[in-house]
Amino acid sequence: MKVAILPGDGIGPEIIDEAVKVLKALNLPLEMATAPVGGAAYAASGHPLPDATLALAREADAVLFGAVGDWKYDTLPRHLRPEQAILGLRKHLGLFANLRPAICYPQLTHASSLKPELVAGLDILIVRELTGDIYFGQPRGRRTAPDGAFAGAEEAFDTMRYSRPEIERIARVAFEAARRRHGGRGGKVTSVDKANVLETFQFWKDVVTEVHRDYPDVELEHMYVDNAAMQLVKAPKKFDVIVTGNMFGDILSDEAAMLTGSIGMLPSASLNERGQGLYEPSHGSAPDIAGQGIANPLATILSAAMMLRYSLQRPDAAARIEAAVQRVLADGLRTPDIHSDGTRRVGTAEMGDAVVRAL
Ligand code: NAI
Ligand code: MG
Repeated sequence: MKVAILPGDGIGPEIIDEAVKVLKALNLPLEMATAPVGGAAYAASGHPLPDATLALAREADAVLFGAVGDWKYDTLPRHLRPEQAILGLRKHLGLFANLRPAICYPQLTHASSLKPELVAGLDILIVRELTGDIYFGQPRGRRTAPDGAFAGAEEAFDTMRYSRPEIERIARVAFEAARRRHGGRGGKVTSVDKANVLETFQFWKDVVTEVHRDYPDVELEHMYVDNAAMQLVKAPKKFDVIVTGNMFGDILSDEAAMLTGSIGMLPSASLNERGQGLYEPSHGSAPDIAGQGIANPLATILSAAMMLRYSLQRPDAAARIEAAVQRVLADGLRTPDIHSDGTRRVGTAEMGDAVVRAL
């Protein structure tokens, strides 16, 4: 199994080191090769996604990605900024499904912005479509408004589009994920739309309903996005798997992340049609704490677990990592971002070492 390791910049290299430590400790037949990406690649070669890095990612079974976006590159033209690397990888690898679990570990319920009883035991999965929707729909641009109440005024416009195959494949990812979470069959998918207002999302709703015929064991419910935003903070445990488009998913996944109270704990996966995937923490490169050895490596370690589950067919090894993380939290070890009274404050490397010991 070939894994491309792309540490990135900011805290990326620090958190990736710990995930690699954990992967090595599993003694699996993994071939790991590292390449620079983002700010680190720009500094070395003048481009955030060098050809050699892209080639390594393409030929790997999976990519483990740290983070990119160090502020020192903020003044570069857009096409050279570190964030272009992740956008380029998504595009070149055809990564259309973004999976973001929001899990509230029993030891961390106090960190949530919601009451502990609302989030204790929370374990939901957001499946966000990543390559379509209003973010990429053409035409788009600025012009002089040709008609309407403001005809003649300067205006801007984007286009919301989804095709049947795009909706079908993301719906399948969601139904399969629901089954996988429930031992191979069952579970519930909530498809989030705005079918009452938008034709794109009436079509989305129709297509998801058709795909559901192949998954009769999985329950399907439809929910308008405004209601979903409300239910996520009112009764988040009512959800199991949420599937939605690019824009609604962008917003709802960040909302769900905050329910768990700790961005440093949240992994993510982005998959293509061949099951190849890019795995990364949900957070960015945290330039404010880079180089201090205090970043929480658990989101990256848990991303490595998702990689074993979704791209490398080793759910057993994934479960071992997840159990080790739970164990370390139960032992009271905390990086500063999740620290509270009565727990032991540790740094990035100490946290990684503890996970290895727990394994
Ligand atoms: P961020 O996620 O990097 O940081 C937000 C806050 O959370 C900061 O206070 C940071 O210190 C803290 N934080 C993040 N990860 C942490 C961890 N593992 N342990 C402890 N604390 C952690 O988001 P921000 O500040 O908006 O973005 C910083 C840069 O990262 C920007 O250039 C942004 O574009 C980029 N970014 C990159 C992403 C990626 O690589 N996929 C995703 C999101 C942002
Ligand atoms: Mg976002």
